[in-house]
Amino acid sequence: MTLSLDLNAMEPQLRYKLLTAVVIPRPVAWVTTLGPTGVVNAAPYSFFNLFGQDPAIVVLGLEHRPDGSPKDTTANIRRTGEFVVNIATPALTESMVGTAAAYASDVSEPEALGLATAPSAHVAPPRLADAPAAIECRRLTTLQFSPERDIVIGQAVGLATADGLIDTDAWRVRWDAVGDGDYPVARLFADRYARLDEIAPMAIPAVPKTKGETR
Ligand SMILES: Cc1cc2nc3c(=O)[nH]c(=O)nc-3n(C[C@H](O)[C@H](O)[C@H](O)COP(=O)(O)O)c2cc1C
Repeated sequence: MTLSLDLNAMEPQLRYKLLTAVVIPRPVAWVTTLGPTGVVNAAPYSFFNLFGQDPAIVVLGLEHRPDGSPKDTTANIRRTGEFVVNIATPALTESMVGTAAAYASDVSEPEALGLATAPSAHVAPPRLADAPAAIECRRLTTLQFSPERDIVIGQAVGLATADGLIDTDAWRVRWDAVGDGDYPVARLFADRYARLDEIAPMAIPAVPKTKGETR
């Protein structure tokens, strides 16, 4: 038996619930931005991914608050055009989720939670010092398909990583070489997170020869 749902006939909240539990795991962008008075804002966003390398495109889906006002991250990116995507490992999950609490705009989540920051090289917002990787981004454009969210398309212009994460001889990223040796935390649905554990190689095969083909 197959269940076929008409997503267009569904309430958006139910659509959200079902689709965000089907499209898993999702990476988490732990985004730092600068507020109008220079306060450092941090919040996690799992409507996030990388969409190419030339230019290097990152996309964020920033929902507005229930009252329709933009979240701090959204307002800060609208104003400054800059943001940093910090990458959290499982050891940082509690802190990362902690920054999703509804702190007032003039409160710095890193400061409130005792998270150290460090300057970025290519953009003004700082990175989170304990995150093993941080992608420095500049907004290219923002898409608005409805009044409820901004889809920010940014260009990754800098990458800061913990010592040892990138093996610069082979240009390989070695998650096993830093911290607990963990890969980034993966978001599942609601309040569930996962640790990437079993990693198996699977090469793309050549297209099989058709019958009668000699070479
Ligand atoms: C793991 C995680 C992922 C989240 N992903 C999103 C997201 O993709 N889009 C969104 O609008 N809010 C998302 N949120 C909620 C925001 O983090 C939350 O609304 C936060 O308070 C926004 O903070 P800000 O106003 O400082 O930007 C997520 C929360 C968590 C815990």
